[in-house]
Amino acid sequence: MKAIKTNIASALKAVTGLDEPALNQMMEYPPNPELGDLALPCFKLAKTMRKSPQQIAEQLAEVLSALPEVAVATPVNGYLNIAVARSSFAKEIVQTAIDKPRALFSSQRGLGHTAAIDYSAPNIAKPFGVGHLRSTIIGESLVRMMREDGYNVVGINHLGDWGTQFGKTIAAYLRWGDEEQVKADPVRELFKLYVRFHQEAEADPSLDEEGRHWFKQLEDGNEQAVRLWKWFIDESIKAFKKTYALLNIEFEHYLGESFYNDKMDAVVDELREKGLLVRDQGAEVVDLSAYDMPPCIIKKSDGTSIYATRDLAAADYRHNHFKADTLVYVVGAEQKLHFQQVFKVLELMGRPYAQHCTHVSFGMMKYNGERLSTRRGKIVYLEDVLTKAITEANRIIEEKNPNLPNRDEVARSVGVGAVIFNDLKTYRVHDVDFRYEDVLNFDGETGPYVQYTHARACSVLRKAGFTEANISWQDSGTLSDTEWGLVVSLSLANEALNRAVDEYDPSIVARYILQLSATFNRFYHHNPILQADEATRAQRLALTVAARNVLASALYLIGLDALEEM
Ligand code: ARG
Repeated sequence: MKAIKTNIASALKAVTGLDEPALNQMMEYPPNPELGDLALPCFKLAKTMRKSPQQIAEQLAEVLSALPEVAVATPVNGYLNIAVARSSFAKEIVQTAIDKPRALFSSQRGLGHTAAIDYSAPNIAKPFGVGHLRSTIIGESLVRMMREDGYNVVGINHLGDWGTQFGKTIAAYLRWGDEEQVKADPVRELFKLYVRFHQEAEADPSLDEEGRHWFKQLEDGNEQAVRLWKWFIDESIKAFKKTYALLNIEFEHYLGESFYNDKMDAVVDELREKGLLVRDQGAEVVDLSAYDMPPCIIKKSDGTSIYATRDLAAADYRHNHFKADTLVYVVGAEQKLHFQQVFKVLELMGRPYAQHCTHVSFGMMKYNGERLSTRRGKIVYLEDVLTKAITEANRIIEEKNPNLPNRDEVARSVGVGAVIFNDLKTYRVHDVDFRYEDVLNFDGETGPYVQYTHARACSVLRKAGFTEANISWQDSGTLSDTEWGLVVSLSLANEALNRAVDEYDPSIVARYILQLSATFNRFYHHNPILQADEATRAQRLALTVAARNVLASALYLIGLDALEEM
């Protein structure tokens, strides 16, 4: 639809005195398809064109009547309603959807750019909870969407693998740890040790001293301390990878906080040389009061560097090593100030890429209506959420389709897809509510519903004895309104992807998938396919292939499997 909007805009440029982008902006999709495919409200033009909106609509209708892609343009109450010429448009869209569906999404706007996307980033020896779930799911979808839009994308897992907590975890392990237990379930075991350390330290403050001692050993390169620390990380990454595998995620780069240990001095030196460092109660900070922000702490009073300093070094590394010109951080809203400070310091250091750093924050996740908090010990592990969703999905499929051959594999796709879709259908900055009964409801706005729509298209094609080789667009001479509605939905893929990338918000693609599913299901219910006469059947099968292909591409963009049967 975008190409048509552009042609209309260019035809109306001269009469309206507006440029193409402005006219493009003004065009709307009418809520009721009977009014046409596009509408241009003419009210804003009244002032410059010195006519009533209705007169303007009439004048513009005349201009558009010369365009081959416009079937009719009707002026109504100051609106210009535009109906697109169906047959040629359908041919172009459906044929593209059949041959190369991805071309309907992408205009490759990112060619020549590299984006580094920082996401997931769990902390070792702390729980990988549902809080990190949102970062993981949103981040992975942004990786896929930006790649589709032509960017070279580098996905980075900025693991929390350094800090004083490792001194405590080492001390706790040496006192109470068990090698086999850590190997069996590193994420939970290491966290248990960490929690026990804190509990026992309340009664016995000498433990804190022991923790500090071991962190110092680690910093000084003590062989035993380093070996344990590395082992904790390796075991944890192994466990994280299992969870990522359930989600179909593979990280190219695990570059944790410790990776920057030897890269921070350069940052500190540069800040000092540029006169940006000041002393503040023993610490070294960058004063940001001119920008209404608290100071950014670079070195604590004990000389240790902190989170922000690592992020400064990491940003430079991503820019210099990966040649990234766009830096994206998918991290919860509670770190908003941290990223504002880091981006401001990068700007003060004279980094041009500071203009292209974005903190992609998101709302909280409520689990069965409750907020989760690590402090009150209410932890829900991501792995458990996924496993339970898979078990539930398995049960539902057993009821609905007991003869499905590869049920376990399908249950994994459906269960995990349900969790992902529930997250991504929500506008990114809003809170997400999670309840198993809702996310797995096959009739709601859910993962199973959109996956089922894809499977339904596949099932129609199977029953038709369809083979991939001989399909092309077949024009039967008429397009019903529901067939046309499907064509229009297919044509909106590009706008959905562009907006989702511009706003760093996968929910726009998830919502597009819901819209496409609804129009496909409407088409399916109103237009007999297998029983239709030959020409009509061929047209409807082509539409079904087109819908299946575009749905599959869209599902991939948000990390869902396109199932053929379920
Ligand atoms: N590990 C951090 C946390 O769980 C998130 C890291 C985000 N990325 C970054 N570059 N700071 O809070």
